[in-house]
Parts: sequence; structure tokens; C-alpha cells
Amino acid sequence: MKLDVVLGLQWGDEGKGKMVDVLANNYPVVARFQGGPNAGHSLHFEGKSFVLRSIPSGIFRKDAINIIGNGVVLDPITFKGECDNIIAKTGIPVEERIKISKKAHLILPTHRLLDAANEAAMGKGKIGSTLKGIGPTYTDKVSRNGLRVGDILAPDFKERFSKLKNRHVTLLNQMGFQCDPEAEEAAFMEAVEYLKKFEIIDCEYYTNKLLKDKGMLAEGAQGSMLDIDYGSYPFVTSSSTAAAGACIGLGVSPSKIGHVYGIFKAYCTRVGSGPFPTELFDETGEKLRKIGNEFGAVTGRPRRCGWLDLVALKYAVMLSGVTDLIMMKSDCLDSFESIKVCTSYIVDGQPSDQWPYDTFADIKPVYTEFKGWNTDLTHCTKEEDLPAEFKDYIKFMEEYLEVPIRIISVGPDREATIRR
Ligand code: IMO
Ligand code: MG
Repeated sequence: MKLDVVLGLQWGDEGKGKMVDVLANNYPVVARFQGGPNAGHSLHFEGKSFVLRSIPSGIFRKDAINIIGNGVVLDPITFKGECDNIIAKTGIPVEERIKISKKAHLILPTHRLLDAANEAAMGKGKIGSTLKGIGPTYTDKVSRNGLRVGDILAPDFKERFSKLKNRHVTLLNQMGFQCDPEAEEAAFMEAVEYLKKFEIIDCEYYTNKLLKDKGMLAEGAQGSMLDIDYGSYPFVTSSSTAAAGACIGLGVSPSKIGHVYGIFKAYCTRVGSGPFPTELFDETGEKLRKIGNEFGAVTGRPRRCGWLDLVALKYAVMLSGVTDLIMMKSDCLDSFESIKVCTSYIVDGQPSDQWPYDTFADIKPVYTEFKGWNTDLTHCTKEEDLPAEFKDYIKFMEEYLEVPIRIISVGPDREATIRR
């Protein structure tokens, strides 16, 4: 069977949680392959709401196996908090439903402090990180200093932990960062003990064995424009967010990839710093933020808002070989008289239809304008219910992107989903 992948195609927060939860019905296995608790995947169903950080969004489906892959960075403290919350609200036996890769890297409390110290040192040029320790943990992974989930089972784990912590303390002291590196150590060790309740797997063997007779859905975190290689570097996250990341992050060959579902919002948002060509600083941006409730699920920060950017979107579609597009939050545009989409740029005075290399280039969007549909889309349950103006708008996008839009979401609930 195939590994299908669901990805965010913009700057994160596209609605991946909802779509994985909807699609998970068709998949016995759901796996996270990169990122960590910088993600905040929101799910709404049966009057309940959850924000998932490290746990795959298949957790609420009764028979699904949920894998935390080796490409993920796992914070035991956050993870335990997430599990406790789900157990308290639903009674779901999370220990039975989640399997964790031995090779996933551990986020130590001092990784979070280093994240804060790095950001403080950058001053105005800061990334706007979620301060969850993501960058420093991947740094330790690549520089071959990290600790992995499998290490918690080793008899000398505490010594190895202290060695890494002491490295961090030296760095924090060098940076003159005031903090108490021991403050969360007891909570960390308690959460590490909790991890031992879960099956800790050889992810690559586990996934490949399952794929012999089960379909699997890989759940991306963040978005393509935050990819470490292809995003707007240095204003990116520290993992590979494109489809290829699913292979490395789960130990699965590219030949096993099936559908690549690319998720985008009908407009754009970004949290943190970095280029955002279609950003709106006026009432329209304010209106999008309000209607779309665009405030960070992890940090509560107001998200920057702007019109849909088809140049950036087409770039993301290309990078991941997207086969099926999923459009979220279409209903948030219901009350706009006219709707704009960016179809090319003027980069440093020159026309261009490419995402530029230079993160600090002057990028001006060139827009195509559409008449608004002024209809409440949340009442639409099938293709035929959709207004003509909306159909024109999506036809234009499909032609531009050369990929069909298969699913249209018209509200946060599981049920507010139109399949085409
Ligand atoms: P989900 O999965 C939106 C952004 C941060 C910052 C940059 C680097 O919910 O879509 P990091 O903490 O990763 O070092 O921050 O990336 N960022 C996200 N933005 N959604 C996310 O995840 C994000 N994860 C990280 O705001 O600009
Ligand atoms: Mg988010």
C-alpha cells in the first residue's frame, strides 16, 4: 500500500489538523514525520475542540495507529501534557494508540532556553520562533550531539542528559542569558518515565511492515514556505516540510508515496518574521484576521494576514508534487465585495513569476481581482450548492496551479467539508 502525505503549502496554520482528522477515517495509520510542538493542529468535532502539538491528528479515530516518526523532535513535558489533556477530556487510551520512534530527538528544557537566548541575541532580526526549542534541538541532531527517544532506555541516560545539559549551560552563560537551567529537570525526568508507557519502535521497520497491507497518512507540520531548504531562509523552521521530508522522517522510500494532498487557505497568514508579499496592513487585513480568527494556536500571537499568493502556492505545489489540493476557510471570504489573488510579482523592479532567492528583496504583488460571491458558504454541503462566482474563482486557481482542488472546507467542523 501507499504512503499518502498531507502538507501545508503556505506558512503553516492552513488547517492540517482538521483535514487529517477528516482523511484519517480512510487510513489505519497516521504519522507525524517532522517538526515538533511548534505545531498547533486544531480539531473540532462533536462540540469538542483540541489543539494537537506532537500527537498525530488520527488520535481520535478509534482504530488508527498514530506514529511519531524519527524526523520529529519530541518534548516529553509537552507531550505528557497533551496526553493528560486528551485522557481527561475523552478517556481515550493514548498509550495504546501512539507509537514513538527510537530515533526521534528529545527536546530538553535547555533547548527551549537556548531558543529564547538565540532570539534575544538577534534583537530586531529575530525569526519569531515559537520558542519551543525546535532550532536548537535540530542543531544538536545535525551536529551529532543530540539525545534520542531510544536513549531513555539506556542505563546511563541520566549521565548523557547531564552532559548535554552542561553543554547548553556553557552556551547560555556565554550568551549572558539569565535563566535557571534546572527549573524543569524534575518535570522532564517524570515525563521521560511517562514515555516508557508507550511502544518505542524501530520506525523504519515498523512503517515498512505496516505498508505491506495498510495505507498510511503522513501528517506534515508547518508549511512549505517554512521549509529549511526552500522557505524564506533564515525565516524558516528547522525541518524539511515538503513531501520528501515524509520519506526521511519515517524511513519510507519515495517509491511508496501515493497521493500528496496540499492544503492551503483561501488567503494567506504568517506568524513570525520574514517576507510576505501579499500582506495587508489595512482594514481588509484586519477583517481577515477577525473573521478567520487568525491568532496562533501555540503562542496566541496575532497572525499577519493577506490575499492568496498563487506564485508562492505554485512553488509549493512544484516542490512536493502535489496531486490533490484542499482549500480551507473559503467561507471566511463570504462577505468580501471583491477578492484578490496574486498571480505574479515585481521583484526589485523586474516582473517575475518565481519565488525569489533573496529574502530581503522588494517583492510587489500583481493581483487578479474577482467579484465576491456574497453567499454564506457554510450552508453548502455539495458542489451544486456553490455559487457561480465561487466556482469561477476555483476554476481559475485550478488552471493556474494545474492541480485539481478535491476538497473545499467551508467551516471548522469535520462535517463542513465538500468533496469534489
Ligand atoms: P503548524 O503545524 C505557523 C513559524 C514560527 C517562526 C518560524 C520558526 O501549526 O502549521 P520555530 O519555532 O519552528 O523555530 O519557528 O516558523 N512556525 C509556524 N508558523 N504554524 C506552525 O505550525 C509553525 N511552526 C513554526 O512562527 O516564524
Ligand atoms: Mg499552527
